[in-house]
Amino acid sequence: MVKAKKFVVAKHFQNEPKPTDLQLVEEELPSLQTGEFLVQAEYLSVDPYMRPYVLKYPLGITMIGAQVGKIIESNNPKYPVGKRIVGYLGWRTHTIVNPQAYTEVDLISQKPMILPDIGSLSPSLCLGVLGMPGNTAYFGLLEICKPKEGETLVVSGAAGAVGSHVGQIGKNVLGLQVIGIAGSDEKCKWLVEELGFDHAINYKTENVAVSLRKAAPAGVDCYFDNVGGDISSAVMYQMKPFGRVAICGSISSYNADASSLPKATILQPTMVFNQLKMEGFIVSRWADRWSEGILKNLQWIREGKVHHRETVTKGFENMFDAFVSMLQGKNTGKAIVQV
Ligand SMILES: NC(=O)c1ccc[n+]([C@@H]2O[C@H](COP(=O)([O-])OP(=O)(O)OC[C@H]3O[C@@H](n4cnc5c(N)ncnc54)[C@H](OP(=O)(O)O)[C@@H]3O)[C@@H](O)[C@H]2O)c1
Repeated sequence: MVKAKKFVVAKHFQNEPKPTDLQLVEEELPSLQTGEFLVQAEYLSVDPYMRPYVLKYPLGITMIGAQVGKIIESNNPKYPVGKRIVGYLGWRTHTIVNPQAYTEVDLISQKPMILPDIGSLSPSLCLGVLGMPGNTAYFGLLEICKPKEGETLVVSGAAGAVGSHVGQIGKNVLGLQVIGIAGSDEKCKWLVEELGFDHAINYKTENVAVSLRKAAPAGVDCYFDNVGGDISSAVMYQMKPFGRVAICGSISSYNADASSLPKATILQPTMVFNQLKMEGFIVSRWADRWSEGILKNLQWIREGKVHHRETVTKGFENMFDAFVSMLQGKNTGKAIVQV
């Protein structure tokens, strides 16, 4: 009999998540039925979307999230013992999976996938640059911003999983001028000195509008927005005519009480006079091209064009701390938990 540990949602998050919002419980798993297999988690992802997304589910559910795990028992020949999968199994150490049960209607109901062959790279990358965040950067930048060589790209949340990859594709693959916005001098130094960004702005110590005007006096062609709020309004007012804005996320609002959010900045003047295009997206839009993104990102890693960093928290019991640390900006690159 296998015992699983899991985090269940005891209380819906309000403002910054509190440890008592989740409860760590144990569960005895039954025997496998035909078609099922048993996965043991090795790496779990903590991502910003979990904060707003989980609110639409009832209390008592297992906290949502993706993991990379090893198949340790199987009644399904397509998922043999020893293979690794990546899938949205939630915050749990052991999971019985029935692949038929996945509806694929949204990101977190995607069917678990056997890991692609990534050679000697860490399987944990399939939660980051070779997984959902990597594909978010790839498709969001190429398909929504549609950048052209020589253009200027600004990315916010630039030192995180998605942002650091967006900037590197922009700089090292597409030949753009790339400016990142991030929350510490150390992160800004990493972006410029190690990842090749042209410039980085620390939004906690600098006036973003003033620093951006200096870094890109001719204006901005593409903005990849991970954060929303005042930072994004400042960037939007420095767009060039026919600029494109990809709205990927708005982490500056995730912990805020809806009633205390600032009133929307008037963006219409810059949108109209600069004839801007702004489009929100969810990466599952490109579910049918998923492998294309992963293989391209893998190729760019192997060619040395993109680098990746992980902030690893050890121990399944520390999932909550890793999650809140990521929301507070304590991660550089992808935040993950190693069981
Ligand atoms: N649309 C999609 O399909 C999709 C898919 C994946 C991710 N996303 C979105 O993409 C964004 C980045 O996700 P990620 O996984 O790469 O996370 P991440 O950037 O690795 O981690 C979150 C980062 O957000 C920054 N942050 C926190 N509070 C902030 C605030 N008030 N203002 C500005 N920055 C703040 C922190 O960095 P600092 O130190 O710089 O503050 C923190 O490290 C999120 O908005 C997420 O929801 C969207």
